[in-house]
Amino acid sequence: TTGPAAPPATGETLAGLIAPAGFPNAPAFKIPGFEPREAASLFSSNPPLPGAAPAPPASPLPEATPSGVHTIYPVAHEVRPELGPTIGVGARPFDAASIRRDFPILRQYVHGKPLIWLDNAATTQKPQTVIDRISSFYENENSNVHRAAHTLAARATDAYEAAREKTRRFINAPSTNDIIFVRGTTEAINLIAQSYGRRNVKKGDEILITWLEHHANIVPWQMLCAETGAILKVAPVDDKGQVRLDEYEKLLSRRTRIVSFTMVANAIGTVTPAKDMIDMAQRLGACVIADAAQAVSHMPVDVQALGCDFLVFSGHKVFGPTGIGVVYGKQQVLEAMPPWQGGGNMIADVTFEKTIYQPPPGRFEAGTGNIADAVGLGAAFDYLDTIGMANIAAYEHELLIYATEGLKSVSGLRIIGCADEKAGVISLVLDGCRSEDVGAALDREGIAVRSGHHCAQPILRRFGLETTVRPSLALYNTFDDIDALVAALKRMATSQRFRAH
Ligand code: ALA
Repeated sequence: TTGPAAPPATGETLAGLIAPAGFPNAPAFKIPGFEPREAASLFSSNPPLPGAAPAPPASPLPEATPSGVHTIYPVAHEVRPELGPTIGVGARPFDAASIRRDFPILRQYVHGKPLIWLDNAATTQKPQTVIDRISSFYENENSNVHRAAHTLAARATDAYEAAREKTRRFINAPSTNDIIFVRGTTEAINLIAQSYGRRNVKKGDEILITWLEHHANIVPWQMLCAETGAILKVAPVDDKGQVRLDEYEKLLSRRTRIVSFTMVANAIGTVTPAKDMIDMAQRLGACVIADAAQAVSHMPVDVQALGCDFLVFSGHKVFGPTGIGVVYGKQQVLEAMPPWQGGGNMIADVTFEKTIYQPPPGRFEAGTGNIADAVGLGAAFDYLDTIGMANIAAYEHELLIYATEGLKSVSGLRIIGCADEKAGVISLVLDGCRSEDVGAALDREGIAVRSGHHCAQPILRRFGLETTVRPSLALYNTFDDIDALVAALKRMATSQRFRAH
């Protein structure tokens, strides 16, 4: 099978809430932060969308339109960051099959079947350019940073700080001083809780999260509440898995010191109305943390447009290495924060009587950081730059609609979370089958998904479940991958072998 029988007929597919013509019953997902454009011209193959404009001849990089969106022209395949246009734009025709070839791990077979990686919410695979960049760093540049006058120290420092600039650009932060490298989202939230939180939260204050949160955005706040006497409040979700904004608003008050919520729910894919939630909280003087761990690989993220005080994410979920992540913080907020960990790199001067700290970001990067993986993360942003986050969002939107329709055709299959705005994460249960068994059976077909509680037990329990099966999408997934998933689930749905009882 090669994709949808009747794919969308017009560019209106991407114009927000309009269901595509080829999927009359399709959910009308929107892509927040993504400006509608001519869908048909976005994808050069897999599947070919009717009405797709023929690829124009190679030409210089295109002009930006007033909306900031560029026409896509083919360019040479190699990553050339110095020629890369603005993030979100892309210069390479979107071709998922060709993109897939950039990821060497996806060439392998598992149980004799070609690997289909649909566990992207847990971690994403790495393009060759990222792997090569890390190797090249260790072959040519490896040194500690900011510490010596020799050549390799200069090379390593340049590479590390260039990665900070690429990170700044990826999320449109005003300054590289606003970008702190950490181990990942979990460490990022713990840093904020322990530094900003301990300084600013006291007994009786409130911290507001939502029912959608990953444990990493619950437990650090529980720990802070236990330490300070603050109270943790949780905004509920409706039966579609959407934050109830009316209840969220009611829970906000002048006592709310911190609001921390996910932009995309890792367990069920809900895209939260981040801008509205940030504005509502900030009107009452709360500090707002946007957890972008599941957002950054799916859609453009712009911290200045969002206006959040902090934004956090992990490198490994955006095609970069493990062990590297990011805290973005507003300059005035970071400057007022005490260090979290003490040690080398974060100081300006040390005597036994007194230590003077560096300004941000150095103040928050005690010790030797994960230099090579920061550089690798920068290479991931270069790679994404050639494709464009807006183009990725548009492609995944089509893939999500196609997958949702396909999965709905599996008898006894229930999708958990049907928000109007979703990213490429689908949680499902198969009637009478244990999630672990479904996951293991899919693995035998070469299909990798996560099955379990997804480190988000409260939201699954909100739907009366302890576990689900969770296929999650990325830019290298194809419509054929979805067909294989749906076909495998259909076989399981009709096979008693997979039934628990
Ligand atoms: N946070 C990752 C997930 O959702 C591990 O699977």
